[in-house]
Amino acid sequence: MCGIVGYVGHRKAAPIIIDLLKRLEYRGYDSAGICLGGANARLEVIKNAGSIANLIPLIPEDKASTIGIGHTRWATHGVPSTINAHPHSSDGISVVHNGIVENYMHLKNELEGDGYVFVSETDTEVIPHLIRRHMAVGKDSADQTNQTDLMDTMRTVVGRLKGSYALAVMEDGGDRIIATRLNSPLVIGIGDGENFIASDTAALLPYTRDVVVMQDGEFARVGETVEFFDANGDPIDKTPETIDWNIDAAEKAGYEHFMLKEIHEQAQAVENTIAGRLDELESKIELDLPFSDDEIRAFTRIQIIACGTSYNAGLLGKYLLEELAGIHTDVEIASEFRYTKPVMYGSMATIAITQSGETADTLAAVRGVSSYGCKTLAIVNVVGSSITHVTDGALYTRAGPEIGVAATKTFTTQIVALILFALHCAKVRRKMTAEEVNDVIVDLKKLPSYIQRTIAGVTDTGMGAGSESESGADQKGRGAIVECAAQFSGARDYFFLGRNMHYPIALEGALKLKEISYIHAEGYAAGELKHGPLALISEGVPVVALISSGPTYEKMLSNIKEVKARGATVIGIADEGDEEIVNYADVVLRIPKTHYLISPVLLGVVCQLLAYYTAYDLDCEIDKPKNLAKSVTVE
Ligand code: BG6
Repeated sequence: MCGIVGYVGHRKAAPIIIDLLKRLEYRGYDSAGICLGGANARLEVIKNAGSIANLIPLIPEDKASTIGIGHTRWATHGVPSTINAHPHSSDGISVVHNGIVENYMHLKNELEGDGYVFVSETDTEVIPHLIRRHMAVGKDSADQTNQTDLMDTMRTVVGRLKGSYALAVMEDGGDRIIATRLNSPLVIGIGDGENFIASDTAALLPYTRDVVVMQDGEFARVGETVEFFDANGDPIDKTPETIDWNIDAAEKAGYEHFMLKEIHEQAQAVENTIAGRLDELESKIELDLPFSDDEIRAFTRIQIIACGTSYNAGLLGKYLLEELAGIHTDVEIASEFRYTKPVMYGSMATIAITQSGETADTLAAVRGVSSYGCKTLAIVNVVGSSITHVTDGALYTRAGPEIGVAATKTFTTQIVALILFALHCAKVRRKMTAEEVNDVIVDLKKLPSYIQRTIAGVTDTGMGAGSESESGADQKGRGAIVECAAQFSGARDYFFLGRNMHYPIALEGALKLKEISYIHAEGYAAGELKHGPLALISEGVPVVALISSGPTYEKMLSNIKEVKARGATVIGIADEGDEEIVNYADVVLRIPKTHYLISPVLLGVVCQLLAYYTAYDLDCEIDKPKNLAKSVTVE
């Protein structure tokens, strides 16, 4: 998730572009760049690694240009560096891009075959070269006058791209910017004799409140006036809408907290994380791993090292790797592991899970393991972060920057990355047939819409699974999760129960509630309760039971009976269409029925929302809970 901007008008472009970028910095801040141009002027690109503050000193104050584009980056392909920063160029063409070009390797090979030289590791760089090549071909076939129009060229070029993009493109001597989008946000700000381009409305508000939200496949030619075109190049009318948000709200895209915004971004985050990695036809998982197939076949053991929410994802990874790939897996708390003498035996690998890639305990623990010659993989959200310099390889979750201290979308994409890895190992070790792998791939591809339905269902938009209360009255109209949270926000203790792959989600549900509502909450393997913790259950204690269909459904029903018999009030999170559960639980929250390997993701989303609305009801500091930090870089 990057931020792109553009400006055409009568004022100096550079300071305006820098200000627009600063307002989008929450979308990505590992490198930045601008390109300035103008009629009869050659394009000038200035870019640098690090935050926008690093870029400002490189831009001469006297730059008179009144047209330009800019970019602030959240790396997905290629580490944060000046060469990988945007804009990317090709002989008088410059491009800023937000999104992922899934088929970039194929296009890159083709362009290199035609003599184009790539200077960066990014997927984006194929775009300016494709534009340049198309215009060159157009020029060759025409009568040497530059027949080929930039926008016509882009319409052809985007037809070659698979994936997602919001693009702003400039050319030498051009006085307009061409912008277009597919599966990535883009808005045009209409000003008085000046016009603006941005990845979202947040950046534009200090300059104009009249914005046009671009739709997929549409083009805008932005000059001192703005023209809009459909995918065929035919002119279309677009009426600007007037935005009345205050600027702070805009950065949260209208959500009250970054955490809620990030919960709602999970469908897109999963879409990005599986993009270009699932091949349904070949029932193949395409991952860039530091392990060869022979090494994967030889694995006798995997150890996962992590902290906090990442540890809970790791625990789910254990179930996945053992169940699907038949690899014995241990999960270690990094702060403990780093002070134990690692027992290394058999052919093994170590996986470090860390969204930030900067957690000191995890870094230290992995450094320890590497010294024993064990191959290591990082499952990480931040490209180029410290962990990627310690491990032999990195499997990136592509959740985009996460601002809320309590991890949500990064947890969900960690689970998806672990499912992909386990499926790949299972396929390589012939533990699953192509059909079995495909069954999961089919549901993984539907996961983004399942997540949207889950959120819609429990937050009252009436489109989803909804819920019933003891009275049986359908609560869809009243936002089941909001009601449920308010009903139990006064509780002193809260319990979360799950079995098998739902047990790590019970731990995560309890952690989320602890982190942001400060209520004492515990997650347990449901079968373990009777060996002690059941003593804590008394009249009215809320117990969340994760009970979507799977191998332990019946067992969970009896565990629910166990706590009910001690007076607990049970909140069941169950599948749509499960008629049985209403006879056991006091409140039922519903999720779409999916493959049981996928259900932990949806159960996790409901737990995130329960924690959010509980903390909301208690008026807590949701994005910055007390005593916690987004990443603990000290021991
Ligand atoms: C804590 C965060 O500081 O670190 C948690 O508050 C997080 O949300 C934990 O799960 C581990 O962080 P990371 O970046 O290593 O996944």
